[in-house]
Amino acid sequence: MNDRISLPKDRIRILLLEGIADSAVDLFGQADYAAIQREKKALEGAALVEAVKGVHILGIRSRTEVTEQVLAAADRLIAIGCFCIGTNQVDLAAAAHHGVAVFNAPFSNTRSVAELTLAEAVMLMRGIVDKSVAAHAGGWDKSAANSWEMRGKTLGIIGYGNIGSQLSVLAEAFGMRVLYYDHTGKLPHGNATPAASLDQLLAQSDVVTIHVPETPGTMGLMGARQFAAMKPSAVFINNARGTVVDVPALAKALREKRILGAAVDVFPEEPKRNGEAFVSELQGLPNVILTPHIGGSTAEAQDRIGQEVGRKLVDYSDTGATMGSVNLPQVQLPPRPTGARWTHLHRDAPGILSQMNACFARRGLNITAQYLQTDGDLGYCVIESVEARAEAEAILEELRTLPGTIRARLIYERS
Ligand code: NAI
Repeated sequence: MNDRISLPKDRIRILLLEGIADSAVDLFGQADYAAIQREKKALEGAALVEAVKGVHILGIRSRTEVTEQVLAAADRLIAIGCFCIGTNQVDLAAAAHHGVAVFNAPFSNTRSVAELTLAEAVMLMRGIVDKSVAAHAGGWDKSAANSWEMRGKTLGIIGYGNIGSQLSVLAEAFGMRVLYYDHTGKLPHGNATPAASLDQLLAQSDVVTIHVPETPGTMGLMGARQFAAMKPSAVFINNARGTVVDVPALAKALREKRILGAAVDVFPEEPKRNGEAFVSELQGLPNVILTPHIGGSTAEAQDRIGQEVGRKLVDYSDTGATMGSVNLPQVQLPPRPTGARWTHLHRDAPGILSQMNACFARRGLNITAQYLQTDGDLGYCVIESVEARAEAEAILEELRTLPGTIRARLIYERS
């Protein structure tokens, strides 16, 4: 897959679907990209296949499925920005095979999830939702039974990554004691302490909250045995992914009052769009907060996502940097090339680097900088040469003929 890249920026076509935030458009504008088409909705099937033709950069959120068929039709595409956290909607291996870098925004809504989690802990520990529902219906349920302050209580965090550790800081400011369990060693923030085991965390915590990714190792991490190990006065929160909890086991624990309540934002089966029916065993249970996967959905998070993904796409287009790409080897580059810069994505095999270098040696040209990263399957190499400007296009053509080449691009220094 080859493309002309020394295109003027106003001819680099950007298609943004699914109502991507203004912050992304502002960022493209500041970087002198002008050919931007924005659509409010997701596209699918034949409409998407037609729309991607001639597009260099595609921006999507979670509802646009980028399949092998879509990628095959995308004859100019160099990058996809997923303006969200997940990238399951893109066939990542096929994208890499087509030389298309995929970027996302893994950290932009960390704070939003942490804030919601803490707020839900307060609501659950006070039984607020049921009291509020009763009050709306004309009831009056004034009682201090099963109502607790957060101060001095123990928050047990399973998965001490971006969200877990941010939550840890907020919870300590609330006067909580923080225990955490992570399968890799993590530096504690503030006075948080690592639990010796998941069982120890479950036995000691008043609020248990899970913040692990969806992996084969986290499927059903919280099941019947784990709910039985919690204090009967404790509450449970899942704002991570639906599959990390055995939902029937959670529903049973709630029905049998083995735990006091739960807040759940994510489900193994979620409606694909607003208006579609949502069904869960947790519906109708007392002291249970159900939310439609909105843990990270705030105006601030959308704004940051626009900036984060927009910045990665501009960097990749302008400089060749793949930092933050989820499907290509990651190379961090100085912002401006010295002379001409070529990027070369290839199937990794012994000897490819020496063949690239030979393109320069044969011409008596000095390579001024070279960056290489491989992931076992793919290799991504960036080469700079100060002297080579006059022959830059010829070298590009030669790099493209090397066996195993997936994509080669040429980036000129902009003066
Ligand atoms: P992260 O990758 O920064 O942290 C995850 C932590 O879990 C890591 O420290 C990892 O070592 C740990 N972990 C993984 N497997 C484990 C296991 N088997 N046992 C114990 N610890 C384990 O992820 P981040 O950004 O904190 O996100 C956490 C979860 O939140 C993810 O599932 C993500 O999809 C979800 N999320 C949900 C949102 C929502 O709208 N509800 C929004 C954003 C993220």
